[in-house]
Amino acid sequence: MAEVRQHVVSVIPDDEGKEKFKKSSDVAFYRRQMQGPNLQHRALLDTLVLTERGARLELLNPDTQTKLLLSLSPCKNDTVRILIDELQPIKARYRVPDVITGELQCEQLRVVRQSKLCVFLSWSSGRHQICVWHFPFRLEILCEDKVMVTFNSRSKLWFETLQDPPSSSSHGSELPEDASLWKETFRQFVDVKANGPSSVGSDLSLHGFSHVFGLPEHADGLQLRDTGDGDAYRLFNLDVFAYDLHRRLGLYGSVPLIVAHKPDRTLGVFWLNASETFVNVHYRSADPQDGETPRLKRRRREPQTDVHWLSESGLIDCLVLLGPGPQQLFKQYAQLTGYQALPPLFSLGYHQCRWNYDDEADVKAVDAGFDRHDIPYDVIWLDIEHTDGKRYFTWDPVAFPDPSGLQRHLEGKKRKLVVISDPHIKVDPDWSMYREARDGGHFVRNREGEIYRGSCWPGESSYLDFSSAHTRAWYSRCFGLGKYKGSTSSLFVWNDMNEPSVFDGPEQTMPKDAVHCGGWEHRDLHNLYGFYQHMATAEGLVSRSAGLERPFVLTRSFFAGSQRFGAVWTGDNVASWEYLQISVPMLLSLSVAGIAFCGADVGGFVQDPDPELLVRWYQAAALQPFFRGHSAKETKRREPWLFGEEVTARIRTAVQQRYCLLPYWYTLFHQAHTCGLPPLRPLWVEFPTDQSTFSVDNQFMIGGALLACPVTEAQVKEVKVFLPGSNEVWYDVHSAEEHKGGRTLSLPVTLDTVPVFQRGGSVLCRAAGGASCTADLQLLPLSITVAPDPQGVAEGELYLDDGHSFSYRDRKSFCRRRFSFLSDRLLCRAAGEGETFECDTVVHTLTVLGLKRKPSSVIVHVSGAKDLSAAFEFLESCFTLTVKNLELRVLTDWEIEIR
Ligand code: NOJ
Repeated sequence: MAEVRQHVVSVIPDDEGKEKFKKSSDVAFYRRQMQGPNLQHRALLDTLVLTERGARLELLNPDTQTKLLLSLSPCKNDTVRILIDELQPIKARYRVPDVITGELQCEQLRVVRQSKLCVFLSWSSGRHQICVWHFPFRLEILCEDKVMVTFNSRSKLWFETLQDPPSSSSHGSELPEDASLWKETFRQFVDVKANGPSSVGSDLSLHGFSHVFGLPEHADGLQLRDTGDGDAYRLFNLDVFAYDLHRRLGLYGSVPLIVAHKPDRTLGVFWLNASETFVNVHYRSADPQDGETPRLKRRRREPQTDVHWLSESGLIDCLVLLGPGPQQLFKQYAQLTGYQALPPLFSLGYHQCRWNYDDEADVKAVDAGFDRHDIPYDVIWLDIEHTDGKRYFTWDPVAFPDPSGLQRHLEGKKRKLVVISDPHIKVDPDWSMYREARDGGHFVRNREGEIYRGSCWPGESSYLDFSSAHTRAWYSRCFGLGKYKGSTSSLFVWNDMNEPSVFDGPEQTMPKDAVHCGGWEHRDLHNLYGFYQHMATAEGLVSRSAGLERPFVLTRSFFAGSQRFGAVWTGDNVASWEYLQISVPMLLSLSVAGIAFCGADVGGFVQDPDPELLVRWYQAAALQPFFRGHSAKETKRREPWLFGEEVTARIRTAVQQRYCLLPYWYTLFHQAHTCGLPPLRPLWVEFPTDQSTFSVDNQFMIGGALLACPVTEAQVKEVKVFLPGSNEVWYDVHSAEEHKGGRTLSLPVTLDTVPVFQRGGSVLCRAAGGASCTADLQLLPLSITVAPDPQGVAEGELYLDDGHSFSYRDRKSFCRRRFSFLSDRLLCRAAGEGETFECDTVVHTLTVLGLKRKPSSVIVHVSGAKDLSAAFEFLESCFTLTVKNLELRVLTDWEIEIR
């Protein structure tokens, strides 16, 4: 009941009180598929052909007698691609380009056995098999003879084959009966469908699973909910100001990836389609249910999750990622869509933004404020008002007369400037950028073939067609230092409004019948629009530096693969406790779906946070990947020092602690960049067999070593923290107190408390001391904290490079160090080979937590030098050993022995 009520009250009306955004029932292709019959397709097994890349066979639609072509490709990394297209299309259907990186390494299939009923296929690994059933067509993926996934298990396969438009002559002057298939009206907007009905859909059953995650972006919990009670999850990128919570309406970006998890298996289903998509999720318990056929009842003695995907156009391109664990799953997904870009170190620091900083003096005053109040920060941001009349790539001549001087001023303090660059271009024939885009054919067109116009910040605007490689190359060149007047190499970029947002468009976006290069309708690639702008911007920044420097670009809209280009934030949230709470599962969902560099506006974008909320938001966001304070135009100023010394002090502490932890964050981002594991992790990723972690979404892991449970409620005196793992120990990072895992702790909190625990078994590196920005942080010594597990063992790694260039990639100029603690000895060793990075960073302090006895001495061994006895302190109250003034080069091999 509560669910239903939420659904009813959360409809967003516009100024006239009408709903601006569609519900699933407003969408014709969704209605057609949901109300249509379950068509029992036949797999024509005698058409099976084995190819170098897998196998092909035909499917027959019993209703229309049309044929589909099913291609199956098992790939080297335990991924199976299921591709369905028309056998003889009258024209090509859209295949999503540029998301899958490189060629998939497909394997050959062989027939294990075949009968009239089914064919069993297997591939080299031998562990997996595919069984294709003749009638009704379905496809099972098995592991060691157990079915894990059934594709089309409920016969929802739906494929509207393209037809020639109904000619009015053949129907006289009357409207053809099926005119509604070629036209759809929502409020005053008429969508003319050049290709008529073209939707696709299918269902999959995930056997044994009762937890599924992913499908960002929705303002909802981490675990996907059963959609039987209301709307389907919608993936359609939209600009939704102050979005309602707990709705399944599409927000700014989409990743069509579902991740299913159970104790012995993590699976992924990636539905590669960039048109409007809906997903229904249905959890089934192990008990047989009413309405199920006897066959289904017999077969299902375990829970399962049914997932039904429906898309408006394109193909069925479904990749099943077989895990088996979370780590393999994340790697499989990254091998498909790309790894998280390694961010320049500065971008992991704190960012200060507001719509808008008024002028150069304002920017300089805010910048100085951070120094005056001893709060580290790296980047200050300029929103749309910095431009000359919302013409991106220009500067307001009065407010920002000397932009390069401003950047040099910031650069002098090793800080950066980020400016906004939106995808709409003011229609202004007197502006060279507009003329170049117009004359170069860089704009999206309407269905009549004219340049499309819609309204956005500058008023009447046209929209760059980023789906064209030619346009992307031109746009990238616009970031050249010679071309972008007033820019310097310390300027970085923010892409906003790139769903795209069109104020006078249907659902505030571009009409689906607009036309992109190659003649593709906007409907085919809508969800890719922001992805492509992000790509072009990142490439522009790389080219600007002749390929030497890593870019930083923040985007609001995204798709699968956007992680390759930079960071994402969760758009226009609100300054309320509910939005602070939802930021945690929203960022976890993004992380699970590969978008690892993500954050939410600190303090809430819309409205004014009270000081307590602001402090709690800083404390939470300091523990999340992308950390930026931002606020809307109408809000009161909220720089951290405007609320009295106590608030300033708390914010200072949160930000300083973030900076101290940056060596760890940077190491985690390198791990994301090379292994696909996100820095921010749901608990189940680290504790895959502990079922009590599966539904937790108010806590998260930062890498494998830290568990955080930010305080997200007002006026609390105590928080409940679940510490997973009955064989684990956890150490409170503030008090060093040791706690056993496998239980929920009641932790007393004050406004200063940020509940964070270090996992027993880990070694953490922090920067020791204060810095005003990340460039200074790199000069600081390190402090190492060893948290032994119950066996007295701990491990950790540190990744180091120059923090900004591509030398780590091109010249192996990086280094990885491993810290191993065993039998009361800490060893510092190389974690890789042939790495060339040189630096003078030293380890200054060692802290060992949970040491059960007072040591008699601490001896330092450095290869080639005499052993030294080091002074130490032992705090019996919390069993903590501290050794200071070590000055051990982190690049040298050494050991510290506790006797
Ligand atoms: C919408 C964005 O979400 C917000 O962050 C920005 O401040 C405004 N556009 C103005 O550019």
